[in-house]
Amino acid sequence: MALSGLALALALALALPSGALENGLARTPPMGWMSWERFRCNVDCQADPRNCISEQLFFEMADRLAEDGWRELGYEYINMDDCWSAKQRDAAGQLVPDPTRFPSGIKALADYVHARGLKLGIYGDLGIFTCGGYPGTMLEHVKQDAETFAAWGVDMLKLDGCYSSAEEQAKGYPEMARALNATGRPIVYSCSWPAYQGGLPPKVNYTILAEICNLWRNYDDIQDSWDSVLSIVDWFFTNQDVLQPAAGPGHWNDPDMLIIGNFGLSYEQSRSQMALWTVMAAPLLMSTDLRTISPGAKEILQNRLMIQINQDPLGIQGRRIVKEKSHIEVFLRPLSQAASALVFFSRRTDMPFRYTTSLAKLHFPEDAVYEEEISAKRHIGSYSSRLKTQGFSGKGFFSQGPLRPQLCPEEEPALINWKCQDTSKALDFFTYMQQTTYGGLLGDTR
Ligand code: GLA
Repeated sequence: MALSGLALALALALALPSGALENGLARTPPMGWMSWERFRCNVDCQADPRNCISEQLFFEMADRLAEDGWRELGYEYINMDDCWSAKQRDAAGQLVPDPTRFPSGIKALADYVHARGLKLGIYGDLGIFTCGGYPGTMLEHVKQDAETFAAWGVDMLKLDGCYSSAEEQAKGYPEMARALNATGRPIVYSCSWPAYQGGLPPKVNYTILAEICNLWRNYDDIQDSWDSVLSIVDWFFTNQDVLQPAAGPGHWNDPDMLIIGNFGLSYEQSRSQMALWTVMAAPLLMSTDLRTISPGAKEILQNRLMIQINQDPLGIQGRRIVKEKSHIEVFLRPLSQAASALVFFSRRTDMPFRYTTSLAKLHFPEDAVYEEEISAKRHIGSYSSRLKTQGFSGKGFFSQGPLRPQLCPEEEPALINWKCQDTSKALDFFTYMQQTTYGGLLGDTR
């Protein structure tokens, strides 16, 4: 019995892709909350006690995550970003939190978070200073800081790269991975390394990254604007041939935080960010004030279908499959159980536009194995069985809102038999709105 168990474990170990980071963490993209985009480096607790970077802010966000339905949906990490620490290490060379803003200490904060079924993330920087000017983690401090974080009960580390050289990064990022593993505490490891090296080969080696990091920032910081979202989307999909294969269970591209709930995005743009981050298999790290979030923003961030797609166990990042001259783009993410997610995105700024397509045009020919287009190695069977569809919002596939499909119109709309008609006519839809995104899930199991 014991022997066959061992043999099985060995067989499983051998079956793992060689070189993958095996701390066993982040098998699906991490979800949670992160302070930076919304709360920045506001350390003036005198003038702005409610919004400054202090333990109070994290206590309150932890309460919201635990009490307002977020945790049950998977939003479990509460991540401190820059500006939590004192300006100096202590006499023993250890990082310490700012004593007036974090009087209870990080261990107490971790205990508070854990007591609510959540996990705590912290921020460090592999340079002389953090980007905000706080003490960094130079090479000689890597081991000590990893041990400090583990002793505090930290569950995730974002290691930034300000004020460090390419050589220091090439040494320091793998060294921190080893140091974290050596603590024995499971700590999800987020590396900003590629973002400091332009995000692309030959300077960035995604094979090495996937071996040492659970997620990595590839590109510029998100700001609270639609322009910023679009620039990130452009960069990620322009470079999808490089980036898409790098992602998978345990190792993810990170296009940065969700800014839904803040000041820069309209309702439609907020839905777009959610759908595009979902199709990218991106970490879902919200950066918004959960104490005052509007019902509309909350509804988008708590969309169960989007979260289910984002967290699909296959962990295949989606791709842009169509980029029309009309400024309509279509994205496809293959999912487990022979399903796939489609996202339709309009960048038009003139007026509502009628976009018509079909499943055949979207590379879903009858009996085709659509995944072969995405990843030559995966074969999950033909797609000629039943096709069930669900909309991004409301019931049914696009049954509410600006995208109107005609899915085998003679059939009942919620559950469609794929063979009911010719695939070239199986999906015919059009948009009414601008700068909007609608997604649908195609598959027979959900
Ligand atoms: C960099 C990072 C941001 C944030 C700030 C903190 O700009 O990319 O995500 O962590 O530093 O100073």
